[in-house]
Amino acid sequence: MSNGQPKITPPTGKLGVLLPGLGAVATTFIAGVEAVRRGASVPVGSLTQMGTIRLGKRTEGRMPLIREFVPLADLNDLVFGAWDPIPDDALKSAQTCGVLKESDLRAVADFLAEIKPMPAVFSRDYVKKLDGPNVKKGSKKELAEQLREDIRRFKDEQKCDRLVMVWCASTEVFLRPGPVHESVEAFEKGLENDDPGIAPSMIYAYAAIMEDVPFANGAPNLTADIPALYNLARDRQVPIGGKDFKTGQTLMKTILAPGFKARMLGLSGWFSTNILGNRDGEVLDDPESFKTKEESKLGVLEYILQPKLYPELYGDLYHKVRINYYPPRGDNKEGWDNIDVVGWLGYPMQIKIDFLCRDSILAAPIVLDLALFFDLAQRAGMSGVQEWLSFYFKSPMTAPELYPEHDLFIQLTKLKNTLRWLMGEAPITHLGTEYYDDYYRDV
Ligand SMILES: NC(=O)c1ccc[n+]([C@@H]2O[C@H](COP(=O)([O-])OP(=O)(O)OC[C@H]3O[C@@H](n4cnc5c(N)ncnc54)[C@H](O)[C@@H]3O)[C@@H](O)[C@H]2O)c1
Repeated sequence: MSNGQPKITPPTGKLGVLLPGLGAVATTFIAGVEAVRRGASVPVGSLTQMGTIRLGKRTEGRMPLIREFVPLADLNDLVFGAWDPIPDDALKSAQTCGVLKESDLRAVADFLAEIKPMPAVFSRDYVKKLDGPNVKKGSKKELAEQLREDIRRFKDEQKCDRLVMVWCASTEVFLRPGPVHESVEAFEKGLENDDPGIAPSMIYAYAAIMEDVPFANGAPNLTADIPALYNLARDRQVPIGGKDFKTGQTLMKTILAPGFKARMLGLSGWFSTNILGNRDGEVLDDPESFKTKEESKLGVLEYILQPKLYPELYGDLYHKVRINYYPPRGDNKEGWDNIDVVGWLGYPMQIKIDFLCRDSILAAPIVLDLALFFDLAQRAGMSGVQEWLSFYFKSPMTAPELYPEHDLFIQLTKLKNTLRWLMGEAPITHLGTEYYDDYYRDV
């Protein structure tokens, strides 16, 4: 322990994972964790469970699993709670969402049937295409109080040592930051006055932070990305982060775009379109919810390609993103990309991608990793925005004066170096001159 890194309290006892939204992503996540715990599956896609981390020099051969290197909660210690306006238990919801096969659900059916959603803080003003009867009543301030009571009761009843909250509920309509989001005082006044600028997701985030529960936002909603809530999180020493799980097409973009830029290949166009038929797709069929998602998806290329620094290569890039609700596809999204690449002497080339992906299968391991890493962050005393977890998000939250880092590989380096720093290991710079110095000294 020599780099001023924090002391980490050990992950003793149970970790409660609280999920606003018990839909496709949340149920696929819970079912998967239980299947892994029962030895029926392997946690594919989860960096915390399957990833390794190199420590020290390449010649040292130290490559532990991440979960053996940093003190993460054990999967057997996770318990799950949720809120949803639709009263279906996790089994019924998973059956309706249709992500997992009936045979896979049958193997964990007893476990899923026990998870029943608490009444949600929900309003159709913010998610137009949904409705459900399992909803709390009261002013926004009272709703926040009710959520806080839910959190305390859950912790008590489930005998949890710690909690984390991961937003897995629908995408809300597009909201711009306004005066009510500027300070904790303005926000709390807004709760009292039922200010329309305070969306349900913000009430969950506020309740979580007030109960000292880390909050991660899996949707593109503004939610905790406002001064009021990141100041509150910093003051109360609670880690927060978001936004929008990085899966599917945006994951592909943040894999490919850094490669084009690394080779100084130009781009004149990137057209992305999707068809999907799940409930998320239906919600995104509403133009106001789509706008929230569109903003989240469009920012990625701008930040990776830096057109102001490279005007000849990326100054005229035409970037378009469409999402089309197409019920026959269910959760099995199809994402097409047409990429117009510009090479030597301006010669054009094209790349076509057709990604037949499964949205919730890609998102579920992200929920797991976020739950475990946000819990780790809290035990390490890291509070406020957790930029080192940008790896998981389409629109990573950062300190106000910073631009977000979208390049998946830079994000991974930052994540792993943060883990090394937490555990008192040297960060890896990839400079590597010492290998050659040693060689030349020896010969
Ligand atoms: N699957 C992916 O790949 C992916 C990627 C990035 C982001 N997301 C986001 O994750 C979220 C969940 O996706 P999904 O496919 O599970 O959607 P889903 O529609 O299957 O599930 C969302 C659930 O949230 C519930 N809900 C809506 N408002 C709520 C509220 N205020 N409180 C509590 N519950 C509420 C809905 O009733 C629904 O059951 C969406 O916002 C989606 O945009 C998903």
